[in-house]
Amino acid sequence: MSNRTLIRGGLVLTAADETHADVLVEDGRVAALAAHGSTAAESWTADRTIDATGKYVIPGGVDAHTHMELPFGGTFASDTFETGTRAAAWGGTTTIVDFAVQTKGQTLREGLDAWYAKADGNCAIDYGFHMILSDVNESSLKEMDLLVEEGVTSFKLFMAYPGVFYSDDGQILRAMQRGTANGGLIMMHAENGIAIDVLVEQALARGETDPRYHGEVRKVLLEAEATHRAVQLARVAGAPLYVVHVSAEEAVAELAAARDKGLPVFGETCPQYLFLSTDNLAEPDFEGAKYVCSTPLRPKEHQAALWRGLRTDDLQVVSTDHCPFCFSGQKDLGRGDFSKIPNGLPGVENRMDLLHQAVIDGHISRRRWIEIACAAPARMFGLYPKKGTIAPGADADIVVYDPHAEQVLSAETHHMNVDYSAYEGKRITGRVETVLSRGEVVVDGREFTGRVGHGVFTPRSTCQYLN
Ligand code: URP
Ligand code: ZN
Ligand code: ZN
Ligand code: ZN
Repeated sequence: MSNRTLIRGGLVLTAADETHADVLVEDGRVAALAAHGSTAAESWTADRTIDATGKYVIPGGVDAHTHMELPFGGTFASDTFETGTRAAAWGGTTTIVDFAVQTKGQTLREGLDAWYAKADGNCAIDYGFHMILSDVNESSLKEMDLLVEEGVTSFKLFMAYPGVFYSDDGQILRAMQRGTANGGLIMMHAENGIAIDVLVEQALARGETDPRYHGEVRKVLLEAEATHRAVQLARVAGAPLYVVHVSAEEAVAELAAARDKGLPVFGETCPQYLFLSTDNLAEPDFEGAKYVCSTPLRPKEHQAALWRGLRTDDLQVVSTDHCPFCFSGQKDLGRGDFSKIPNGLPGVENRMDLLHQAVIDGHISRRRWIEIACAAPARMFGLYPKKGTIAPGADADIVVYDPHAEQVLSAETHHMNVDYSAYEGKRITGRVETVLSRGEVVVDGREFTGRVGHGVFTPRSTCQYLN
């Protein structure tokens, strides 16, 4: 018995096209599209018809940077795979790529298996994994090959966090060389952590303990320097490079310069860098702790360069870096010492809406919205066209989006397991109405109709910008 759903009368938006089309979904996949009102579309029958008149029909969002249950600074990110993927679905995201962690002394296998165990049977939407390398050595380098074969095709390295996730330049070079050989994409946290730690120590010695000093010690120059160094190391290794959570204008300039040379260098930014700033970090009464993440929020003036980069394709992807810690009990760990505030912001539920607001505000076009939030992350991480578009054969991960609805973002109404919203009170034009994950309706208006365990691990091919 096949199971058919018809999405009728909407404006189908992909990264390539805007068409008034009906979408036929069969057995979890897109079976066909046909012009609305055409003989073909009129002849279709289905078990369920969704009226999308006046709405957008868009691919489900692909959030390529999340940290569910991440251990950090003596605590754990507050969203589990269950709560975090449910919140993602509410926000119109139907795939996440989360970061499995190899801690020092562990094999990649041990780290990855721990993440399979956390996610397996708990997710509302589909998921994949990147692997964080914290211990680059002969055997972990060899293990990278096996992970690529198993569909874990990207590896994050850190130039920051000495003693925790940090790799030195030699380790980075070796991992990049291995990536060149096995097709794995190196993702870089580009901040000079060795220099930052000196500035942290000096700031604390001067009694500068408030959250805003987190932004002051993590200097723009040290993001730009690390970005430049990462590009040069990648050139030496003949490797492509993806720089995560780019926040500074000077770092965008490094990426743009590399791309102008024709190098396979890619960049991601996040909503927090586009919509928030050091003004938030400076909020009194320790409220600034809500906005502590790394790279840090920057002065407002940097936002224009990030938007420009997104328009000119010097930045390709917007992911959330969703890594929530409750204000009460978790961010609290850093009262009196900003360096002990767990790093990270919630946002997996807000990304599609914030980027639609950017369309309304004139920063990006509608199709660019779909490109940076759905298609580009899918291509970057080997999920396209299964994910990231609406086309025959693609997974029926589809969002019916009401571009006229008004909403106000708030912790009172969000579904993320965290006691504050980084965007509290922000007005958004646009709202997710219906969400399908592989053909199953998981969000139906104001009701969650999905289920724990519907989401499955999704193996990925290598980066699709390189072939
Ligand atoms: O502050 C952040 N971004 N926390 C998550 C870990 C990382 O560096 O992405
Ligand atoms: Zn119309
Ligand atoms: Zn990072
Ligand atoms: Zn991250």
